[in-house]
Amino acid sequence: MADIRRRMWSVAGLLAAATLSSGLLTTAANASDRDALTAKVPPIVGGQPAKIADHPWVVYLTDTQGNQFCGGTLAKANKIVTAAHCVSGEKPELVQVVAGREDKQTSEGKVAKVTGIWVHPNFQNANSGADVAVLTLDQELQQQPLAVAEKGDTSLYETGKTSTVLGWGATAEGGQASQTLQKAEVPLVSDQECQKAYPQYKSDAMVCAGLPQGGVDSCQGDSGGPLVVENKLIGIVSTGNGCARPNAPGIYTRVATYHDDVQAQLGS
Ligand code: ARG
Repeated sequence: MADIRRRMWSVAGLLAAATLSSGLLTTAANASDRDALTAKVPPIVGGQPAKIADHPWVVYLTDTQGNQFCGGTLAKANKIVTAAHCVSGEKPELVQVVAGREDKQTSEGKVAKVTGIWVHPNFQNANSGADVAVLTLDQELQQQPLAVAEKGDTSLYETGKTSTVLGWGATAEGGQASQTLQKAEVPLVSDQECQKAYPQYKSDAMVCAGLPQGGVDSCQGDSGGPLVVENKLIGIVSTGNGCARPNAPGIYTRVATYHDDVQAQLGS
């Protein structure tokens, strides 16, 4: 009797330890995103509510407790394109993908498990480029995927072109994450202009978008989410100096540069 009880306790102890450590791992891996979420900034600044039905391919990433920490884009029925800095070093079993849910407080859509995480081999941090990752899901989602910009899609990156960014991130710098999907329109910024704002800017790896006067931008918690021009994924929310500040556009991963690597992950 005592023996059985002891054994039961040790099983419970193991379970508790496993649950605790998985929570800790998740927290540690994305500290900056998590900080933004739990504490400070609004997602998409200067935007407006968006309908998931109009953007069925936009998804968000959560930990195992369902806390949103990044965005992503459905690029194939079972593949998500996101930022490397969102998932680098993370275990697949600690990440989930929510598709078809506009409002985080509902149970609309589907929650998929992640079975694989590919991070671009050149990724070190968001400031050095290659901020792109592909997640493999445990199921095929019914939502329509978004096409990924190709090497030849140079016209999609013309300076001044209007792009759309979507996410559930903070709605003001230092603010809280949004409960509902938001979108904003931001013009693409020239390489020269972006280089002025960011010495670390790399024109092959990144593209900037924002207004000179600021006021509209992606923000903490939007990372990994889509920047879209003409129904193609041209950018991934990556980094920036604060959110929506004047002369500090958002920095996005230049997706066309990484098209071939991403396509190889998506399969034929
Ligand atoms: N790194 C942020 C994130 O992890 C995204 C920051 C985007 N910043 C910007 N000013 N556009 O959610």
